[in-house]
Formats: sequence, C-alpha cells, structure tokens
Amino acid sequence: MSLSQYLIEEQLKLPYATGDFTALMSHLVYAAKIVSREVRKAGLLDHVLGVTSSTNIQGETVMKLDEYADTLITNAMKICGHLCVMASEEHENIIEIPTGYNIGKYTFAFDPLDGSSNIDSNVSIGTIFSIHLRKTQAGKKGTEEDLLQKGSLQRCAGYILYGSSTMMVLTMGNGVVGFTLDPSCGEFLLSNPDIKFPDSGNIYSVNEGNYNFWSDEMKSYIRHIKHLETSSGPKTLRYIGSLVADFHRNLLKGGIFLYPEDAKSEKYPNGKLRMLYEASPMAFIAEQAGGMAVNVKGEKILDLIPGSLHERTTLVTGSRKEVEEFLKFIKK
Ligand code: AHG
Ligand code: MN
Ligand code: MN
Repeated sequence: MSLSQYLIEEQLKLPYATGDFTALMSHLVYAAKIVSREVRKAGLLDHVLGVTSSTNIQGETVMKLDEYADTLITNAMKICGHLCVMASEEHENIIEIPTGYNIGKYTFAFDPLDGSSNIDSNVSIGTIFSIHLRKTQAGKKGTEEDLLQKGSLQRCAGYILYGSSTMMVLTMGNGVVGFTLDPSCGEFLLSNPDIKFPDSGNIYSVNEGNYNFWSDEMKSYIRHIKHLETSSGPKTLRYIGSLVADFHRNLLKGGIFLYPEDAKSEKYPNGKLRMLYEASPMAFIAEQAGGMAVNVKGEKILDLIPGSLHERTTLVTGSRKEVEEFLKFIKK
C-alpha cells in the first residue's frame, strides 16, 4: 500500500472527515520526495553541501541544505490551502499564508533539516513535522497562539529519515506507521505497519562529550547504566547526532535517547532540542509506539505547552522500561 492510499483509507474510516488533512499530507509527501531527491545528490550539486553565509535566530550556522529544504517545504505547504499558519526552525517568526491563498484549519511546525552537522559527511539526516488544529477563529490567518499548543493535542506528527533509504514515519494518534520510498516508482510504500518500541533495550544515545556539564543526577544515571549488575547489563552507546536517526534506531531496536541540559555551562541551560518541532512530535510518536518521552524533571513532554516558537527543552525518550529506570533514578 502506498502512503497516499493509506491516507485515503484512513480518511474513509472517519465519517465526518473532509479530506483537508489528506490533501495537506499529499503536499508534504511531494515536498519530502523532492528533498530526498536532492539529499541523494549530495556531493554532485552545489546547493546540497556546505554552509551559507547566515546564522539562524538561534545563532546556528545555516547549511545550504537547511535553506533548500526550508524553502521547498515552506513553499509547498503554504499554498496547500489547508493551513492557517506555519513555523520553521529557520524562521524567527511565524510563516503566514500568503494573501490570495485559501486559509485552512491546521497548523504546521517543522524542522526542515535535522542533524545538519551531518550533511557534509554523508550521514543520516531528517525532517520533523507537527500538525495541530487551529485554536483561533476559522477563515482568518492563523497566529502564534495557534502554534503554541500542548503536544498531546497534535493531530499528526512524523519524520522523514534520509538514511540508507528514505522513510516517512508518522502517527495520527492511532499507532505508528512507517513507509519507505521506493525510488523506482517514486512512492512511499508501507514497510512498517505497526511500529512499537521494544519494552526495553540496551542502547543509550547521548552526547557524552558534555558529561562534565551535566547535573550530578544525570552523571550518576549514566554511570549506573554502564554497570554490569544492572538488569539489562552494560548498555551500548550509539550516537549519530541527528535526532531523527538516533530516535529511529532506538525505536526499532530499543533503548533510550537523552539530551539533558548543560547545567554547568551557558550553552544549553534548558537543553538543546526545540519543543515545538523536535521534542513534541518525537514525543507523540514515542507514546503512540508504546514508549515514553519526558524532560529531565520527569514531566511528560506531551503535557507541556511551549512558551515561544523556538523554546528549548531537555528530552529523554525511548523504551518504557528504560525511561522508567531513568525516572526512578533521578527521583532518588
Ligand atoms: P538541527 O540540525 O535541526 O539544528 O538539530 C540538531 C540537533 C539534533 O538533531 C541532535 O540530536 C542534536 O542537535 C545533536 O546535538 P549535539 O551535536 O550537541 O550532540
Ligand atoms: Mn533539529
Ligand atoms: Mn534543523
């Protein structure tokens, strides 16, 4: 079954569905295919590798592919007719729907290219997206208020992973499904019909180079999981530095991903990952797959409302037993 067929089938199950969401998604699928096509030409085309002369609102270097993916996805989505407002990692403010285009009932927040430090070394990268129903009055352009909603209210969240193959993994609140792009027919085909986090797993993924900046609780948790006497034995460290790729591997194999705050540095006092378009969509997928997603205080990511478009958070996500072990540990 192709992703387009799947979306139509899901729509038909809902008697009151209008088809707006299915139409919105077809624009996203189109954009994902084009970004994937360009990623696959890295090393051959000028606009794929290297940095631009700009830094984004968060002071990070913007890679050429960040800019390309952002422009492509923004342009494909803003004219789809079913969105009222958008937000992207690469835009300081909300992205309005241009005058003259239909204003819809959904919001769209996205990280156009996740893991951009990996682009130039041919390592897996991704795109993350999150969709909510608007809060403000229908028919008018949407506002920041429409975007700053609780994670648990997401209508859909997903990611596209540009790995050894290109995959789209998504949830609409009824489990998690995965589609793999078949380059020979240009379609995303259902490859993972019901993705579940293994209940436990021995992978841990964290940037351990930041160890000296961590809180004492975080340090002792990491020391703890390396001990032979823990339930699952010493864990295996796997860290790519692309959230999408690290999360996806752990989703299939079982384990835990952590991005804590750098308590002892000025760099990321509240964690590095952005709530709206990184942590929140990944948390929705994690919970729908039977896993968990919390911050280092133990609060569920999906219960939190971002205060601003680019608010950062700490993130601990993965197999249920592993996150529970982390929680028990920080409460000690
Ligand atoms: P982005 O490329 O969209 O800015 O996100 C990078 C993020 C995330 O993908 C990854 O988990 C994390 O940064 C890696 O950070 P470190 O290099 O600090 O480990
Ligand atoms: Mn990112
Ligand atoms: Mn990014």
